[in-house]
Amino acid sequence: MIAPSILNADFAHLADEIAAVAGADWLHVDVMDNHFVPNLTLGLPVVESIRKVTEIPIDCHLMIENPDRWAIGYAEAGAYNVTVHAEAVADPIATAANIRAAGARAGLSLKPGTPIEDWVEVLKHFDTLLVMTVEPGFGGQSFMAEMMGKVRTARNLVDAGELSVVVEVDGGIGADTIEIAAAAGADCFVAGSAVYSAADPALAVARLRAAAQRAVPVR
Ligand code: DX5
Ligand code: ZN
Repeated sequence: MIAPSILNADFAHLADEIAAVAGADWLHVDVMDNHFVPNLTLGLPVVESIRKVTEIPIDCHLMIENPDRWAIGYAEAGAYNVTVHAEAVADPIATAANIRAAGARAGLSLKPGTPIEDWVEVLKHFDTLLVMTVEPGFGGQSFMAEMMGKVRTARNLVDAGELSVVVEVDGGIGADTIEIAAAAGADCFVAGSAVYSAADPALAVARLRAAAQRAVPVR
């Protein structure tokens, strides 16, 4: 699955920018609060408006403090998946249950410095694992290939039936790096600048998907 991140879109023309990636699987929306990360982006009113202009499932990535308090609102606003950060959430199991009860899938994200091993039991309560392949906060950073160990661990746990999460990667994904993440076992690929800096964003999505499919190992 390819999930274009609107972080690199033109926010003054957001509906058009979303229409330009009509073939996408998920629409990745980066919510940043200037506290959990230094950057500030958008919040619930914008997600509510986006929901009205697209049928693409909305994938909310909450880079915010106190997601226990705020995540449920994004689920109630109609997000398909709501992801909170392991480093910010106080009660991940309760928050996952609240997100699911409000009708969305629940995701847990790990910053590059956060080991997956500490979170395997908690991940049994989640539907999505978002492995950050950059430090969260900004688009256009370089892909951290050293995160592929985390992706492989997650893939193995899913294939062994110990977890049932979508394995999503976020940060620095482009034509040159998506094959590395696909070969390591990722299922879903967030791409911001690789999609929105392309002349034809829909074509960029299709090309990324084809590149990922080519790289998937026979299991
Ligand atoms: C970074 C965000 C990403 C960002 C990715 O903190 O979580 O979703 O939009 O942008 P690129 O694909 O340009 O690295
Ligand atoms: Zn993101």
